[in-house]
Amino acid sequence: MSDQTPASDTQPLLRPVRLGALELPNRVVMAPMTRARATNAGLTPTELHATYYTQRASAGLIVSEGTWVNQDAIGYIHVPGIYTDEQTAGWAEVTESVHAAGGRIVSQIGHLGAVSHPDHHGGRLPVGPSEVNPQETSFTPDGPKDTVTPRALTAAEIADTVRDYRKAAENARRAGFDGLEIHAQGSHLFAQFLNPRLNRRTDAYGGTSERRAQFLLDVVEAVGEVWGGERVGVKLSPYWNAGPAFTGDAETLADYDLLLKRLGDSDLAYLHLVGPAPGAHTDDTFTAFSRFRAHCRGAVVANLGFTQTTGNELLERRLADAVSFGEPFIANPDLVERFAHGHPLADGDRDTYYAGGAEGYTDYPPVAAS
Ligand SMILES: Cc1cc2nc3c(=O)[nH]c(=O)nc-3n(C[C@H](O)[C@H](O)[C@H](O)COP(=O)(O)O)c2cc1C
Repeated sequence: MSDQTPASDTQPLLRPVRLGALELPNRVVMAPMTRARATNAGLTPTELHATYYTQRASAGLIVSEGTWVNQDAIGYIHVPGIYTDEQTAGWAEVTESVHAAGGRIVSQIGHLGAVSHPDHHGGRLPVGPSEVNPQETSFTPDGPKDTVTPRALTAAEIADTVRDYRKAAENARRAGFDGLEIHAQGSHLFAQFLNPRLNRRTDAYGGTSERRAQFLLDVVEAVGEVWGGERVGVKLSPYWNAGPAFTGDAETLADYDLLLKRLGDSDLAYLHLVGPAPGAHTDDTFTAFSRFRAHCRGAVVANLGFTQTTGNELLERRLADAVSFGEPFIANPDLVERFAHGHPLADGDRDTYYAGGAEGYTDYPPVAAS
């Protein structure tokens, strides 16, 4: 590239894109990352959160860490919520600061369901689709413990939970976010409902692939009424592997093909899709995103393990509209500038990914200052 050539001419990652009503100046999305810095009793984001996100405001779009939609949703320590006025006010400080720095930020809202633990709920069982232990590890205030058999949500409680998602969506609007992302990836509650091994229900929320998706679709509709679908995204991980339940097998992938098609009818801003972990599946990243593309009508934000080179290649091949980066954003707040100017990337300190204060959180300098 000559000095006169803008980096966006050679790098699709640096070109603007529109995802629904969201206008991004580049296609480098900051993936949602739980960093467990809300060390206060109210699980409220603080000035430290505002500093962290503002440092990363040059991302085309920031997706906030997953935030709880109600108390039952809680499953890790020191993760902020978005169900109280105090939490909403804390988030308002974050969005104001990000906007003042020229950035855009959507709120990721979620519920850990059966992968939570009684230790988070005063001894009460966590909730799930059915009374099936996901047999995973739960992160409790006393450290990792085995998950337990959850209590199945009743149909009335599902309706209450949909209302809680709607309330969280309203709070996110009041807090000044630019949009909303529904956390349906990994082993979280929606993924549990989508999973035939964990969802053994015989009501309107289980029994067939369509019905297992109904809870998620109810929430998409409810939050869409608050935001307009064109400001709502959904994060899904069809290839997720965890415990005996999440296997990313042919049946799972076929279910997700159907789900991607159905979500296309909701005219969402984007689907945020997680591909296979490198070497973990016979489908490689490009095969996976070709498959997703074939089933998605709308915009796709691609995730998992991308580098500057593979991200540009995926976009060049039109297999996604934007690419999200998680870990690379931890130690490289100016990731977009590093891509633009070919600066090397710094490595993050894993010991401070999920714990600590400013250390390993807001103390990674941009290239210009290092
Ligand atoms: C520290 C950390 C916390 C994460 N927390 C969340 C989260 O709250 N919500 C979510 O959807 N994904 C979460 N993820 C997954 C990332 O969004 C992303 O899918 C993953 O890091 C893969 O992208 P990468 O290879 O670019 O890092 C987290 C990942 C990391 C490393």
